[in-house]
Amino acid sequence: MTEVPSNQRKPDPCSFVIFGVTGDLTHRLVIPALYNLAATDLLPDKFCVVGVARKGTSNGDLRDSLMKGLREFATRPVDDAIAKRLLECVTSIAADPREPSSFDEMREQLEKLEAARATGGSRLFYLATPPGAFAPISRELGRTGMLQQKNDAWRRLVIEKPFGTDLASAKALNDELLKIVDEHQIYRIDHYLGKETVQNILVLRFANGMFEPIWNRNHIDHVQITVDEKLGVGHRGSFYDSTGALRDMVPNHLFQLLSLVAMEPPARFDAHTVRSEKAEVLAAIQPQRESDALVNSVRGQYQGGKIGDTVIEDYCKTGDVKPGSTTETYVALKLAIDNWRWAGVPFYLRTGKALGIKRTEVAIKFKQAPFAMFSCTPVEALAENYLVIGVEPTEGIALQFNTKVPGPSIRIDGVEMKFRYKDYFKAEPSTGYETLIYDCMIGDNILFQRADSVEAGWQAVQPFLDAWKKAGGKGLERYKAGSEGPAGAEELLKRDGRSWRKLG
Ligand code: BG6
Repeated sequence: MTEVPSNQRKPDPCSFVIFGVTGDLTHRLVIPALYNLAATDLLPDKFCVVGVARKGTSNGDLRDSLMKGLREFATRPVDDAIAKRLLECVTSIAADPREPSSFDEMREQLEKLEAARATGGSRLFYLATPPGAFAPISRELGRTGMLQQKNDAWRRLVIEKPFGTDLASAKALNDELLKIVDEHQIYRIDHYLGKETVQNILVLRFANGMFEPIWNRNHIDHVQITVDEKLGVGHRGSFYDSTGALRDMVPNHLFQLLSLVAMEPPARFDAHTVRSEKAEVLAAIQPQRESDALVNSVRGQYQGGKIGDTVIEDYCKTGDVKPGSTTETYVALKLAIDNWRWAGVPFYLRTGKALGIKRTEVAIKFKQAPFAMFSCTPVEALAENYLVIGVEPTEGIALQFNTKVPGPSIRIDGVEMKFRYKDYFKAEPSTGYETLIYDCMIGDNILFQRADSVEAGWQAVQPFLDAWKKAGGKGLERYKAGSEGPAGAEELLKRDGRSWRKLG
């Protein structure tokens, strides 16, 4: 087993300004990720964290609350000395975009703090807020000049998900932000790109000679992308009911997986080239007419059931969900990519909540070998050939192929060759945000979404949103919590003579 060495350089001095510092995301992910960076000596030597909330709190109270969160959500044992050093960098500042003068005051406070900490004026503004606050905060940061780059001092804006709720709102948000900052200053986060196995798709495809020649319509029958979740909607009823599974997962997380699997080889491993190829393939997703969108999609909503020992109540009975809601908690889609490599190769996508298992994977199904040679033998069928990229729960890669069963007669069975990350590399458990935050600080935006790919993603899902809106509740299937999802999802593949990969 290989210890993963760190050959990374420390980021330059900067301040890390978090809007929404009292929120769940900051406590659950951002601070634990900063802690992990501190523990591996990957924070700048001169550094300060500014926690911004609409209502001010004392530094002591904010630090206590962040410490409590760290103890609860840290991915490794907390070393008190490291945690203390990190939290001593935290200063609380109040600012509310509804009171513009608070941003002028914030600017003064920030400049004083930066002078005292000798951070040199480079700043990262992390918007860990509800999406409605992205534009108002950015506008105020722009108006007060806090985002203006000066000499060697960079200014960056990190935007969390969800980026828009449809194509029009995503475009409007991009337009608004691009009036304030340049594209290279914007870091649109999709936490799937912080996952090792997701980043590894690029390496698997392009650092190995054997996959690329067969990675096309001549050899690949279809691609399945699955993100099954066991959790129900829980306490997020209000957000989820106005969002639904499609908006919540597809144009962002599932399309990250799809674009990495389907993109053309980038000429160079740099942010511009890699992101251009990703945007290109998303833009090549075939537009669907309204009637096609209905045929090529399945919507489901979970009903009460049991997952293990946990009882899950009906989606419609969840707090803050409208009674009789027609919001989908499950979606399956069939998409086509209109380019030379993928013409005729369907991409099937599915994701849902309150399902029997937690599983995230991409399964590449290769074309079947001709059976002719075995027609006069006892062999009745050949197993399917899949290359499976596992993201959760198993991080790794598996190849399924046919092999001869030992014995005098010819018998064939499907077997699996597996690579599991944990068998080869000993890496500390992480939140997945460390790489993303570190990259923001060193100015590498390869793992962040550019405006064109965000819009291409929404463009591809917009026909489904429109068709479903018109159809209302018609076509929404129910499935039992703890099941595999709605029956229609099986049907979607069955009518093409295919089926979803069963758990191995
Ligand atoms: C979030 C969604 O972006 O991703 C959640 O809003 C979802 O609804 C989560 O549960 C899934 O992330 P992961 O990393 O657990 O697959």
